[in-house]
Amino acid sequence: MDLGVCYYPEHWPETRWAEDAALMRETGLTRVRIGEFAWSRIEPEPGRFDWGLLDRAVEALHEAGLGIIMGTPTATPPKWLVDRMPDMVAIDREGRPRGFGSRRHYCFSHEGYRDEAARITREVATRYGNHPGVVSWQTDNEYGCHDTVQSFSPAALDAFRQWLAARYGNIASLNEAWGNVFWSMEYRSFDEIELPNLTVTEANPAHWLAFRRFSSDQVIAFNRAQVDILRELSPGRDITHNAMGFYTGYDHHDLAADIDVLGWDSYPLGFLEMFRFTEEEKRIYARQGHPDIAAFHHDLYRGCAKGGRWSVLEQQPGPVNWAHYNPAPLPGMVKLWTLEAFAHGAEMVSYFRWRQFPQAQEQMHAGLLRPDGKPAPALGEARECADELGKIASEAGSRKEVALVFSYDSEWITQIQPQGQGRSALWAAFSCYSALRKLGLDVDIVPPTAELDGYALVVIPCLPIVDEALAERLGKFAGQIVIGPRTGSRTRDFALPDNLAPGLLEELVGGKVVLSESLSERMTIEGDGWTGGGWLDRYEGKAEPEFVGRNGEVACWRHGNARLLAVWPEGELLQLAIERASSEAGLDAAPLPEGIRRRTRGNLRFEFDYLNAEVSWQALS
Ligand code: GAL
Repeated sequence: MDLGVCYYPEHWPETRWAEDAALMRETGLTRVRIGEFAWSRIEPEPGRFDWGLLDRAVEALHEAGLGIIMGTPTATPPKWLVDRMPDMVAIDREGRPRGFGSRRHYCFSHEGYRDEAARITREVATRYGNHPGVVSWQTDNEYGCHDTVQSFSPAALDAFRQWLAARYGNIASLNEAWGNVFWSMEYRSFDEIELPNLTVTEANPAHWLAFRRFSSDQVIAFNRAQVDILRELSPGRDITHNAMGFYTGYDHHDLAADIDVLGWDSYPLGFLEMFRFTEEEKRIYARQGHPDIAAFHHDLYRGCAKGGRWSVLEQQPGPVNWAHYNPAPLPGMVKLWTLEAFAHGAEMVSYFRWRQFPQAQEQMHAGLLRPDGKPAPALGEARECADELGKIASEAGSRKEVALVFSYDSEWITQIQPQGQGRSALWAAFSCYSALRKLGLDVDIVPPTAELDGYALVVIPCLPIVDEALAERLGKFAGQIVIGPRTGSRTRDFALPDNLAPGLLEELVGGKVVLSESLSERMTIEGDGWTGGGWLDRYEGKAEPEFVGRNGEVACWRHGNARLLAVWPEGELLQLAIERASSEAGLDAAPLPEGIRRRTRGNLRFEFDYLNAEVSWQALS
């Protein structure tokens, strides 16, 4: 277990580096990430390399005993490169170029830029690949940040047509699979297909889904090209990448398959402010973050990562600069977030960033040091964490209690066709996760391909595409199963299955969904001690109604070991259904007080208190 920090030697005078490195070590940090935005310094002019700065920085950090995570600088191509290839920038959905002057100004499909990215990766890897101080590599930085996965450029169009041809073989199959007879959308050849933006009304959802898959594949291919070079030139080093919070623009299961350690960037206060939490949650957790934000991503990315190896590559140390409002964390929160990550199995927590840079876009973003180089409050908390890591390190492994199934194309489908405002597969997963964690359970968020043996409970919040392998595993699963709306409701090409939802899960739930409605907030279903709504699936079959509203509408059906939620998975009804399923699964599940979360690591049980108020309860059973 390591603590680390993101450092930008190019921001500071060289005379300061040794002092910085010594203070990092004294704080107990053992890792330092550098280089990911340094292209304009490494190669100030086309083909002219100036390695001096990075060479000396690597030496200074290495000499201090820090292990270096070296970034490939491809998120920030320099101006001269963009001027040489102006068409390398991405084109937005409205058809406008996304130009130079910040970062991530490239299109994943642009062949010329792909060559340049490979070239600079090769240069950096040749220079530092065998340096004893370089312990791992980070590819690029936050693929998709600033909404950069999709590009509507000529390069993307070209590549999309090729991708479709390879996938469908002939145009008749594509027309058939997408149902293009509808509205006379039939094509005569792949060359007639356009990108799905700029249509008069919504494009065919099958067209969008194909474009989302294609765009994701372009990210994976771009990353893989770097991985191949790094494996060749820097053997024995781990390769990582930093994913983001509440972000589904590419398939992280696919990306994780190519790297060794999946990282993610944890900004609990920024995420609370920017995402769909209630006003009340934003008020009571303003300086802590909602208690499930960080944990949800820890468990999600652990489930994506090959061999379960993951880390936090950036953690908020103080106010950020990019949310609607940017408060400082309560004293103690930086420590809590850090220890919580280790409780969930992180290999490393690295803070973003060492020292606040007084210029440019992030001048208001905190670091472990203030802009004047003096300690900011988080430095002391990092030091306390370093002192406590020893106590945790000896324990490893987590309990297998609940598997929560999530796939990236589920979220693409609910974004493309929400059917009701806000009906998102990602947020359905988050609210199921939260309901489980409020009961003190440990949750693994797993892909649909995961083995389910050993779990007591499987929760599938919203998984429109269910394949035969998953249906078979669920059929054999002996524990309890909870299935949410829209599960099994689509084929791979975005059509309704012939036997209607839940498609291949018909036998498991003993029937089918014959009508789906989405309900506004005005149309709730009131039951005995619960309110449900958001969605309503009308079911026909052998299942028994379990939760029935006073108006006779059924919010949850029960058949054998499976429950079928007919309403959207959120709120009181979800909590009750999850509670019942957990206790029938034999899990030790009991509601925790507001703001408290529990996590087990080996023989250690952690309890995290996110509430800035007094709570009293019997913590240990
Ligand atoms: C991340 C990014 C960092 C920095 C940080 C600020 O998204 O990877 O480079 O911008 O946000 O919070």
